[in-house]
Amino acid sequence: MYLYGASGHAKVIVDILKASGIEVDGMFDDDKSINELVSIPVFHNWNGESPIVVSIGNNETRRQIVQKLKCEFGTVIHPSAIVSPNATIGEGSVVMQGAIVQSDAAVGRHCILNTGASVDHECTIEDFVHISPQATLCGNVHIGEGAWIGAAAVVIPGVKIGKWAVIGAGSVVVDDIPDRVVAFGNPCRVRTDEEKNQKNYPNRIAIYGAGGLGREVAGGIQRINSAGRGNWEFVGFYDDNKEVGTPVSHYGKVMGGMDDLNSVNEPLAIAIAVGDPMTRKLILERITNENIYYPNLIAPSFRVLDPKTFIIGQGNIIQDSCSVTCNVTVGDFNVLNGSNVLGHDVELGNFNVLMPGVRLSGSVGVGECNLFGVDSVVLQRIKVGNNITLGAGSVLMTKPKNGNTYIGVPAKKFEY
Ligand SMILES: CC(C)(COP(=O)(O)OP(=O)(O)OC[C@H]1O[C@@H](n2cnc3c(N)ncnc32)[C@H](O)[C@@H]1OP(=O)(O)O)[C@@H](O)C(=O)NCCC(=O)NCCS
Repeated sequence: MYLYGASGHAKVIVDILKASGIEVDGMFDDDKSINELVSIPVFHNWNGESPIVVSIGNNETRRQIVQKLKCEFGTVIHPSAIVSPNATIGEGSVVMQGAIVQSDAAVGRHCILNTGASVDHECTIEDFVHISPQATLCGNVHIGEGAWIGAAAVVIPGVKIGKWAVIGAGSVVVDDIPDRVVAFGNPCRVRTDEEKNQKNYPNRIAIYGAGGLGREVAGGIQRINSAGRGNWEFVGFYDDNKEVGTPVSHYGKVMGGMDDLNSVNEPLAIAIAVGDPMTRKLILERITNENIYYPNLIAPSFRVLDPKTFIIGQGNIIQDSCSVTCNVTVGDFNVLNGSNVLGHDVELGNFNVLMPGVRLSGSVGVGECNLFGVDSVVLQRIKVGNNITLGAGSVLMTKPKNGNTYIGVPAKKFEY
């Protein structure tokens, strides 16, 4: 086994491997002044040696190194840890002395469950998470990618912690915590001091699409920041149809097109602010840069009647005054452009655009790439497939056929 990162954290992993009877053949570190750690040689050029564990405590640094190493990763579990046979631990993860992982817990890739950490039944931990010493996750807790849970923090049952969030040592988390914030205390509250929030994790964001929707999304990001629900550093717009340097209202400038976006070499969040559903999908397909990620941008006024049954993917934009009730699922890359209502059991797929005022009644199912015009309504239990356009003010009362346009009350197929 090899380790990448000759740090204090690596010393603990060496102990764990020794206790499991596994030899450490060597370590790698970019710092050329380190040649040895706990009597193990430290090399500076990695040539594919594996299996390897990235032994770096900082979640974002660990993610960046993992991205560069295309090889087999080891998984390290100390013999004193108790891991339920029904739990799963992803590759590259480390479970330290005395940690406990209960039944049906799912731990992602390259996570750290530090000394004495406790992960109870049915918890889900996404990749690159660090659960610090003695921290306790009660049952059914969900920890987003890259989040860091401080030492001895307690997270009560069913709470969701956002991606790349930082939870201070000793906190008691009683409510969901949004993505990319620092939160601490008992009860745990998000810190609103933007400057301090910005130092722990990637938080730069740009918008693809410098049109009207782009400006609306830029305004939405400002609102999220000022409400303390995020702390984004907005860096500008990308657009293939506008000159570099073109100002976009007072929000920022166009920084380039798709090629420039694909050359960005540090983590950057992107919001795709293009209103045509198929174009949204095509844009996503053209973004090939692994440094790009897609957060959900959710207006602080968004209301969820039953947060425990609300499921949401990535890359969604939810503007002001939207609400969902119970058992609602929102897939990926949808736009809810304001004052949208999704009733019970609605399942919204991917790349759908709901113009302002759209209402989806109970048990409506929606596939991919549909466009719902301003103030349109879909009646209960209707299944909407793919690539359908519903005209402004229309009321859809029967199942539409894929790829067609429907208008009127009741909405009828429109022949061009
Ligand atoms: C939350 C945390 C990341 C904030 O770090 P920071 O940005 O350097 O914050 P500062 O130390 O500047 O503190 C800012 C303020 O928050 C308060 N604060 C910081 N962490 C706190 C915590 N865990 N609980 C309560 N208050 C806290 C400070 O007292 C300070 O208050 P003040 O402005 O009234 O003086 C950090 O304090 C923390 O808890 N880290 C987790 C450490 C850990 O568990 N490590 C495990 C390693 S294996």
